[in-house]
Amino acid sequence: MKNDLKAIVLTEQDIQDLCIQLGEQITQDYQGRDLLCVGILKGSVLFMTDLIKRIDVPLAIDFMDVSSYHGGTESTGEVQILKDLSTSIENKDVLIIEDILETGTTLKSITELLESRRVKSLEIVTLLDKPNRRKADIEAKYVGRKIPDEFVVGYGLDYGEKYRNLPYIGTLKPEIYNS
Ligand code: IMP
Ligand code: MG
Repeated sequence: MKNDLKAIVLTEQDIQDLCIQLGEQITQDYQGRDLLCVGILKGSVLFMTDLIKRIDVPLAIDFMDVSSYHGGTESTGEVQILKDLSTSIENKDVLIIEDILETGTTLKSITELLESRRVKSLEIVTLLDKPNRRKADIEAKYVGRKIPDEFVVGYGLDYGEKYRNLPYIGTLKPEIYNS
């Protein structure tokens, strides 16, 4: 699998360091609050499991599955709810956990939906941010790393549902897209 990569963007160590830093900030900000971490399937699963271990407050977790991507490398702008939360979020301090914030279309729709359910607070943590790609008016409060506008895979991020299991993040060789 490593042979398919053009370059490594974040090593396993980089990712763990970012989880520690983000976990410390979130721990400070959520003292004494009723924190519910909402992972956006499927990309955020690996990041979520590492990050929540670094958050030192009693928290609950839940998941949502949405789709704005249809297998390629470009967002279509349409968001579909494939799996909704299984718990009530009324009066909860909700923290959305995302793998990557790009155009913002996905997170804009999710935040609008969750805000309509009378949450106490709603914030976003994303491991990666591609600010140059933004179309929707949305920012994450907690950002692991800003990256240039290049398609990345690994550590939850996929290309055609593959490469999520790479323990680090990188860019693919051009021939992978053409094969
Ligand atoms: P947005 O709605 O354009 O912000 O796209 C967000 C979603 O697109 C993310 O949750 C990812 O699932 C996917 N995505 C965006 N950029 C990449 C990438 O570089 N690699 C893999 N998936 C990506
Ligand atoms: Mg995602």
